[in-house]
Amino acid sequence: MGMCASMNINRRSFVMGAGAALTLPAMTRAEAARQTLAARVAQAQLAPETYPATEIWGFNGQAPGPVLYAQQGARFERRLLNNLPVPTSIHWHGVRIDNAMDGVAGLTQAPVAPGEVFDYAFNLPDAGTYWYHAHTNSYEQVARGLYGALVVKEPEEPDIDREEVLVLDDWRLNPETAQIDSRFDAWHDLSHAGRLGNLLTTNGVPGLKLTVRRHERLRLRLINAANARIFVLSLIGLEGWTMALDGMPLDRPARVESEVVLAPGQRVDLLVDVTADEGEVSHLAYLSDDGEWWSQVAFPVTGVASPTRRPPPEPLPANPRQSVAGVETARKTKLVMEGGAMGRLQSAIYEGRRMSFRDMAEQGRFWAFNGTVGRTDTPLIEAGFGETIRIEIQNETVFPHAMHLHGMHFREVHDDGGLGPLRDTLLVQRGEAREIAFIADNPGDWLLHCHMLAHAASGMSTWVRIT
Ligand code: C2O
Ligand code: CU
Repeated sequence: MGMCASMNINRRSFVMGAGAALTLPAMTRAEAARQTLAARVAQAQLAPETYPATEIWGFNGQAPGPVLYAQQGARFERRLLNNLPVPTSIHWHGVRIDNAMDGVAGLTQAPVAPGEVFDYAFNLPDAGTYWYHAHTNSYEQVARGLYGALVVKEPEEPDIDREEVLVLDDWRLNPETAQIDSRFDAWHDLSHAGRLGNLLTTNGVPGLKLTVRRHERLRLRLINAANARIFVLSLIGLEGWTMALDGMPLDRPARVESEVVLAPGQRVDLLVDVTADEGEVSHLAYLSDDGEWWSQVAFPVTGVASPTRRPPPEPLPANPRQSVAGVETARKTKLVMEGGAMGRLQSAIYEGRRMSFRDMAEQGRFWAFNGTVGRTDTPLIEAGFGETIRIEIQNETVFPHAMHLHGMHFREVHDDGGLGPLRDTLLVQRGEAREIAFIADNPGDWLLHCHMLAHAASGMSTWVRIT
């Protein structure tokens, strides 16, 4: 397989130092309360050094923002300080959170005005790999860099040599100036696959390199923070297991035998053993649309950790609520996705009135759920506390969509009645009908939307209410 060295913009080599992952020392409650995430404009060298720095929006001026570590079961507190010129808010993607802390501007909180603060405080019932990102005009704000990893540690660490948090993104930069393309409302992006970029980064670095040793075992916490890019990933010179999806441990580690697909919003925890020889380079490789493999992360092998590999891993400890009971008798609802370019949608309801697809396009609205563009006044479904809910998601568009439910994880219901792993984001390919089931045990108003963020902004957003 060909390993290409450059995309539209040349990749640069970069050896990441140990300082990249910020481990917070044990803090008192009062100290924790003073921890602030300041959203602000900053400069970052995203493109190769021959290009100017890129103006980004980042938490604490970084993109990704700092990796936030916490212990399972702990209380988590962060103050958002908005130093941006526009309102913002933070969503803690995948956390079974108090609704008031979910960060959705216009649904669970008012957007935080420039110069203002908002104190987020919530419990962390589940261990796993989560992330935080802006949820006010997210299709612009996430594309500008307002996101970071939230790692909730199990009480006991699995037996590994080291851990790497890898946040993948896909930036659209002007190829001359290396500045972020600010045409967020481009109709082509809204109506097709979303805003795809021209510079892939991991932790803000194109062509990230991490030195490893043969037979070392790493835990890779992968997070797809891209607006629209589906990362199809492969291991080269690495062998491993999928341990968790969207933060939630699998019952049994699943050997990685083919590609790992990571849709926007999704996470995967892999345990990988370095099987390449000393002097070789292992890769986390990315399959581009034109069928070429690129090095997303290169792992030069510089030494030997041990003469033999470790035995296969034990599963990660289960999180508290893992089962989805009562699926057979659950109340069912349907979510039909329509619209987009080359779709069949003739018209839809938008802001209370029927509109032709052509008029929708004029307004930059291209997608509908159940015939309505954007969030409706009434929820898709109103569930009683503890009720099991099934939602059949039917993709009648010609694009894939990554459907994210806030506040609770779901399981996919397969045709044979079997249940898939717990997830919070499901990739639904064109033409597919897929069904999810979840227990409505987190009261509040929760978004259900496409995580191709331009799609969400142009119609693909609904919500559920749990009372
Ligand atoms: Cu990660 Cu509503 O989003
Ligand atoms: Cu979509």
